[in-house]
Amino acid sequence: MRYLSFILLFLAARAYAHTIFQRMYVDGVDQGHLAGIRVPDSNWPVMDLSSNDIICNGGVNPYHLPISQAVIEVPAGATLTAEWHPTIDNTTLDDSIRADHKGPLLAYLAHVEDPLTMNVTNLSWFKIYASGLQSGTWATDTLIANAGKVNFTIPSCIPPGAYLLRHEIIAVHTAETYPGAQFYMECAQLNITSTGSTLPPPSLSASFPGAYQSTDPGITVNITGITDYIVPGPPVFECPGSSRYLV
Ligand SMILES: *[C@@H]1O[C@H](CO)[C@@H](O)[C@H](O)[C@H]1NC(C)=O
Ligand SMILES: *[C@@H]1O[C@H](CO)[C@@H](O)[C@H](O)[C@H]1NC(C)=O
Ligand SMILES: *[C@@H]1O[C@H](CO)[C@@H](O)[C@H](O)[C@H]1NC(C)=O
Ligand SMILES: *[C@@H]1O[C@H](CO)[C@@H](O)[C@H](O)[C@H]1NC(C)=O
Ligand SMILES: *[C@@H]1O[C@H](CO)[C@@H](O)[C@H](O)[C@H]1NC(C)=O
Ligand SMILES: *[C@@H]1O[C@H](CO)[C@@H](O)[C@H](O)[C@H]1NC(C)=O
Repeated sequence: MRYLSFILLFLAARAYAHTIFQRMYVDGVDQGHLAGIRVPDSNWPVMDLSSNDIICNGGVNPYHLPISQAVIEVPAGATLTAEWHPTIDNTTLDDSIRADHKGPLLAYLAHVEDPLTMNVTNLSWFKIYASGLQSGTWATDTLIANAGKVNFTIPSCIPPGAYLLRHEIIAVHTAETYPGAQFYMECAQLNITSTGSTLPPPSLSASFPGAYQSTDPGITVNITGITDYIVPGPPVFECPGSSRYLV
């Protein structure tokens, strides 16, 4: 009996530790719980960088059914707020991820023909957001302080059309050896309206699997006492004219 209680406590603690991106706001407007996002029922991380599960999850952690057929309408330049919680059945929970889970938050976009396509291989992704370690504060610490919410901006110059948003947390608190880093990600189905026509240069394009290597300094890392952390993947794409424009 004592053993069973221990197991149950252990499982509860493990479930609580993990997290799922499950709600989005566009310029502050709530799009609805689970709407337009491919969420698994399990909050388990992906840890194998060579697996197709690293693209949009849904493999080892099968998708919650039915998969949302909603497409989130997003004007280019909009502020997106993504919301993370440990389980998809309890959205009142203030918790986002357990405080010992430290690491960066990232967001990528890929242009697709159909925002509802389930074939997510061979897409060309570009990074639109990355937040790592700043003055001793991890992006995950800020996420916890903001009750599971993080803001980022859709570049104003990109062409209109269907995109998948790949939003991710990499927990690197036990990443001294590979596999060790925990990859949490879900993909959201977007229809971006825009008058822009600038796609990122090929040098900023990333494929999944492939964008991350086990030898990346931000993937296999001992974070004890570090003051600098290199967020994995390509640099963030910025529109021409913005101060951080990169080619
Ligand atoms: C995030 O964006 C929302 C809506 O655009 C805004 O109300 C909120 O203040 C922003 N939060 C932060 C931390 O910037
Ligand atoms: C939902 O969250 C509340 C508040 O944290 C908590 O008391 C309750 O146990 C949670 N329920 C489930 C099913 O996780
Ligand atoms: C998925 O899309 C890629 C690129 O368009 C294509 O090469 C591949 O055959 C597709 N896979 C399936 C299972 O349809
Ligand atoms: C498409 O993706 C599949 C699965 O990841 C891979 O085996 C194949 O080589 C890719 N094809 C191209 C043209 O990149
Ligand atoms: C995307 O938005 C455009 C402009 O509002 C609209 O014409 C189109 O039907 C939308 N596409 C999808 C897939 O929602
Ligand atoms: C991580 O680094 C700390 C500080 O240098 C060290 O004490 C610890 O043993 C290291 N942990 C591992 C697993 O290498």
